[in-house]
Amino acid sequence: MTADDLDAVHAVEISAYAHPWSRRNFLDSLQSGHPAVMLLAEPLPQDRHLPLRPDGRLLLGYLVAMPGVDEVHLLNITVAPAHQRQGWARFMLDALALWSRGQGAQWLWLEVRQSNTPARRLYTRYGFAEVGLRRGYYPLAHQKREDAVVMSLNLVARRATEAA
Ligand SMILES: CC(C)(COP(=O)(O)OP(=O)(O)OC[C@H]1O[C@@H](n2cnc3c(N)ncnc32)[C@H](O)[C@@H]1OP(=O)(O)O)[C@@H](O)C(=O)NCCC(=O)NCCS
Repeated sequence: MTADDLDAVHAVEISAYAHPWSRRNFLDSLQSGHPAVMLLAEPLPQDRHLPLRPDGRLLLGYLVAMPGVDEVHLLNITVAPAHQRQGWARFMLDALALWSRGQGAQWLWLEVRQSNTPARRLYTRYGFAEVGLRRGYYPLAHQKREDAVVMSLNLVARRATEAA
């Protein structure tokens, strides 16, 4: 993902979240050098009505992460609403886990809104464990706040399970 992609990325972002990242959030991540990748596909005939990129491809989703010492923190993972429930988030998590292991990371970490049942189910099914709660971490409408569930995945243990 580069700054040139942010029109398309942000269009998906605002279609997918009640509280989306701003363009500034994406730019800050890119300028900090955080890994940010997009999942692109050649459109199928039934996708022709969907907005295509200038190169004619479809933006299915994206993720943004932040490497630490022996961990990688997942900051944003999003699949465009028209392409959800087709395994793309799991596919991106696989790619992230592979890349993170290649960096020598042992852990993946993330926060997720307590009310985000689809995402919590995705992460739990993937093997993440709920390890904590950050009170009032996310903004809600009307000056209210929502807790974040902190989740982690042990990449070493997961690789052992995959190998077995
Ligand atoms: C959460 C999100 C990334 C999932 O993407 P996706 O590509 O639809 O997920 P997948 O198709 O890879 O689903 C993998 C598993 O996650 C769970 N899951 C995904 N979406 C779900 C939903 N709407 N309801 C219940 N479980 C869901 C299921 O267990 C699913 O496996 P199954 O389809 O075999 O039952 C997507 O819904 C999204 O972009 N939501 C808005 C942004 C967001 O909330 N991002 C996460 C922020 S922490």
